[in-house]
Amino acid sequence: MPLLQMEHAVVFLLGLCTGRSFGIDYDSNCFVKDGKPFRYISGSIHYSRVPSYYWKDRLLKMKMAGLDAIQTYVPWNYHEPQMGTYDFFGGKDLEYFLQLANDTGLLVILRAGPYICAEWDMGGLPAWLLEKKSVVLRSSDSDYLEAVERWMSVLLPKMRPYLYQNGGPIIMVQVENEYGSYFACDYNYLRFLLKLFRLHLGDEVVLFTTDGASQFHLKCGALQGLYATVDFAPGGNVTAAFLAQRNSEPKGPLVNSEFYTGWLDHWGHRHSVVPAQTIAKTLNEILACGANVNLYMFIGGTNFAYWNGANMPYMPQPTSYDYDAPLSEAGDLTEKYFALREVIGMLPEGLIPPTTPKFAYGKVCLQKASTVLEVLDGLSPSGPVRSTYPLTFVELKQYFGYVLYRTTLPKNCVEPTPLSSPLNGVHDRAYVSVNGVPQGILERDKSLKINITGQAGANLDILVENMGRVNFGRYNNDFKGLVSNLTLAQDILVGWEIYPLDIDGAVNSDFFYLLDHPKRSAVKALSYEVPAFYTGTLSIPGGIPDLPQDTYVNFPGWTKGQIWINGFNLGRYWPARGPQLTLYVPRNVLVASVPNNITVLELERSPCSTQACEIEFVDEPNINYFFVFPLPPVACLSLRPR
Ligand SMILES: *[C@@H]1O[C@H](CO)[C@@H](O)[C@H](O)[C@H]1NC(C)=O
Ligand SMILES: *[C@@H]1O[C@H](CO)[C@@H](O)[C@H](O)[C@H]1NC(C)=O
Ligand SMILES: *[C@@H]1O[C@H](CO)[C@@H](O)[C@H](O)[C@H]1NC(C)=O
Ligand SMILES: *[C@@H]1O[C@H](CO)[C@@H](O)[C@H](O)[C@H]1NC(C)=O
Ligand SMILES: *[C@@H]1O[C@H](CO)[C@@H](O)[C@H](O)[C@H]1NC(C)=O
Repeated sequence: MPLLQMEHAVVFLLGLCTGRSFGIDYDSNCFVKDGKPFRYISGSIHYSRVPSYYWKDRLLKMKMAGLDAIQTYVPWNYHEPQMGTYDFFGGKDLEYFLQLANDTGLLVILRAGPYICAEWDMGGLPAWLLEKKSVVLRSSDSDYLEAVERWMSVLLPKMRPYLYQNGGPIIMVQVENEYGSYFACDYNYLRFLLKLFRLHLGDEVVLFTTDGASQFHLKCGALQGLYATVDFAPGGNVTAAFLAQRNSEPKGPLVNSEFYTGWLDHWGHRHSVVPAQTIAKTLNEILACGANVNLYMFIGGTNFAYWNGANMPYMPQPTSYDYDAPLSEAGDLTEKYFALREVIGMLPEGLIPPTTPKFAYGKVCLQKASTVLEVLDGLSPSGPVRSTYPLTFVELKQYFGYVLYRTTLPKNCVEPTPLSSPLNGVHDRAYVSVNGVPQGILERDKSLKINITGQAGANLDILVENMGRVNFGRYNNDFKGLVSNLTLAQDILVGWEIYPLDIDGAVNSDFFYLLDHPKRSAVKALSYEVPAFYTGTLSIPGGIPDLPQDTYVNFPGWTKGQIWINGFNLGRYWPARGPQLTLYVPRNVLVASVPNNITVLELERSPCSTQACEIEFVDEPNINYFFVFPLPPVACLSLRPR
């Protein structure tokens, strides 16, 4: 027997000897743990949104709120970045996270996917699935199933030793997510998953589904053999919601798998806030029914790097996933935390870990290092791909970040000439320049046409940003880049040189710090500038104990871009659209011994020509900046009655 299998067998036998068991008692309408009736109060934390440095702190705060369990999603695209390449190291060490949960005395409800929604890029599905252009995701499409089967045969065997009956914390495993909200309604797909999960996890573990609390959602979401649970928001009719679950499960425990403690945000819309009293009241009602509940989110955390998702019509979610949850993005104890802790009531002995201190390091001067165009060759080690018509990110095998599309003007454009994307194919935002002179911005669903000027033969450069793939609904097949032709006046532009950009790789090798002659081209006060990199260093002051501490970075006068500290990609900033102004900087990305290297990619307009060229480290977040927003917020799950 191979070593790995043998270990599993031993763990499994130990489980049998310790008599640990978890299951459903249908006649008593409850779960049973170790032979006794059991009801859980759980909270959601996504390990992919909290630095591993802070996992223990956040889990302990959850335990001290009186929770029995945590619930987490497994984002497939986080662990299999390229087909067949798996990453479970460092911040992606799911087994270590499970071990910490167990050590903290928390049970785990695992939402294993393959699809998770979660306001996460493409709902957790890897973008490389789109290499088959016509793939029908979340269905019995044979290529999709093959990829799922391979992934689950890596993930689930790792999870098996952590099942409760095998001595670990996992009491239940969710299959798919809100499948009843998806158009495909493919029962064979759910049956395939059921069989696959049973094959790898055994017959004992409780497998379940989660859907909106209505017959409409449960119709395609529930399947014989998977225990059907529901999700619903505070403020509604709890009895009616659970009656919907009873339609699918006439007997067994009542479960709300996503009881919303707050709500998600989108760039350009107001920050969502849900009062603690509303949540406390409905939570009381749920508990009075004897029901099980998971608070979604208990801590939301951060969409670092490029991990945010988007809704349709195209609305990407910001970097902060604070969610107005009981623990803030930075893990701070809030009023809501204490209000819900009171409702939960069953408080464990011990001290609640305090809110971590934040430090205002102050202003940091930045200097322009170079424009994107000036260092194109350094950013694109593979060099350009030539193509008559534009290629998508997936065709270039680059899944995140930025790609530069270059062609030449086929004719003189002395008068302003319309450059347009007639099929709305700029996914998602394009920064346009001609021979280095900025022309304007195209944006998916928002700005499909700009005027440009320039001489025949001049370089037309279009830097395209992937702002996050749609995570919900039928628009999941979200191709990025220029996904349809651009036209200049009436003519389709051809003859492209397409530069895949490895900006993260360049930042990580201190590329911008090692530039021989930093190119400080004169910055003119235009309404747009070409995308450019700025660098600076933050030194942690001496003589103050316990530094570095957490902080927030503010972007006064900056417009939109991406920021890295010591190579760590903190995410996107976009104060010009809001509501998020500051980005959370966890202390683990900072060092006290040497200056911290900061790299900023500003895509539109820096303050450097008119104001101070600086960013500022402050000790309070501001994710609730209010502009006069043009559109009402549209929710991820807008189909659901709330
Ligand atoms: C998990 O914690 C329980 C005690 O709550 C312990 O009996 C069990 O051995 C732990 N499992 C692992 C895998 O550490
Ligand atoms: C809640 O729903 C139940 C079941 O549909 C219904 O009997 C009850 O009247 C509703 N309560 C309120 C306050 O609407
Ligand atoms: C483009 O230029 C033309 C002619 O100057 C003008 O009428 C039109 O409004 C401009 N369009 C845009 C999108 O700026
Ligand atoms: C661009 O237009 C050409 C010619 O009409 C067409 O063959 C091609 O498929 C188009 N490409 C894209 C990406 O739409
Ligand atoms: C910052 O970049 C320099 C290269 O200019 C490098 O020597 C140094 O180690 C970097 N600092 C950190 C904290 O990574």
